[in-house]
Amino acid sequence: MRILHISDLHFWTITCNPFYLLNKRLIGNLNLVTRRRRHIRQERAGSFIELMKGLCPDVVLVGGDLTTTALDSEYEKASGFLSRLQTVCPDIYVIPGNHDYYTFESQRKGRFEKYLGRYNPLSDPFVSYHSINDIALVCLSTVRPNLFSSRGFISKPHRDAAQKILWELQEQQVIVLAHYPCLYTTPEYHTGLTRRLEGALPLREMLGGVGRSILYLAGHVHVFSHGCDPVYANVTQVTTAPLFYEKNKQPGGFTEIVADKDDFKIFPWTYDEGWTRCKESLPAQG
Ligand SMILES: [Fe+2]
Ligand SMILES: [Fe+2]
Repeated sequence: MRILHISDLHFWTITCNPFYLLNKRLIGNLNLVTRRRRHIRQERAGSFIELMKGLCPDVVLVGGDLTTTALDSEYEKASGFLSRLQTVCPDIYVIPGNHDYYTFESQRKGRFEKYLGRYNPLSDPFVSYHSINDIALVCLSTVRPNLFSSRGFISKPHRDAAQKILWELQEQQVIVLAHYPCLYTTPEYHTGLTRRLEGALPLREMLGGVGRSILYLAGHVHVFSHGCDPVYANVTQVTTAPLFYEKNKQPGGFTEIVADKDDFKIFPWTYDEGWTRCKESLPAQG
C-alpha cells in the first residue's frame, strides 16, 4: 500500500484590497511580495498531478498550510488542485495548517470548512479516526488563529480524545497526522517560541504512553526529517518538505510511505528540474 504525505503547498495570491489588509495579512502580503512568492513554485502543480498518474498512490494525506494568507482566491486554487488530484487518487484526507486559519476573519467565515471540508470528515472538529485497510489514521487539528505569532495549540480535552481513540484501535499500524511536529528540535530544524506547538510535551507523553508503534506525520517546519522520539521510542516522527518549495538549501518535495506488513518504509521525494525519488530513509535514533 502506497501512502503519500504532502504538506505546506502554500498556494498564494497577492491582494491589494485594503479590506483584507486590516489584520495580520498585511505582514503576510509584504512577506509574499518580497520573498515567499519566489520560493513557492505553484506552477509545478501540473507536473505533480502528471507524476501521480504514474505513481498511483492508494491514499494522499495533506498536512495543512494549503494557503498562505487564507484568502478565498487561495482556497479556490487549493480546492481546484485537490479536485484534479482526486481524479488520480480518490482517497484524500486533509487537515488545516496555521496559514489556513491565518486570520480570525478567515476562521469566522469558515473558509477551510467551505472549500476543503469534504476532505476532512471530522466527527469531532479536532480529532478524527479513519480505518484504511489495516492502518489506523488519526487526524489531529493543532491550529487556531493568532494575532501575530505562528503558534499551534492542542488542548487537554483533544489529547484525551486522541488517547481514547489510540487505546481502542484494532489495526496493526498507526499513523497520526498533524500540522505541527511534536519535537521542537531535531538535527534538521529548530522551532522558536513563536512557531511551535503549545502542548507538544504532554502530546508526546500521551503518544509515548500508548505503547504501540506510531508514525507521526507533520509539516510546518519546511524540511524533511525522520527520527525517533528521544524519550518515547515507540513514536517515529517524519516532517515533510513543502510540496512546491524552491530555496537553495531547502528543496521542495513530498514523502512516500510504503506500508509493508507491520512496517512503514519512508522514501522522500525532492524536486530539482523534475521529481526524484530518494533512497529509503532510516530514522535517526533520538
Ligand atoms: Fe508552512
Ligand atoms: Fe505552518
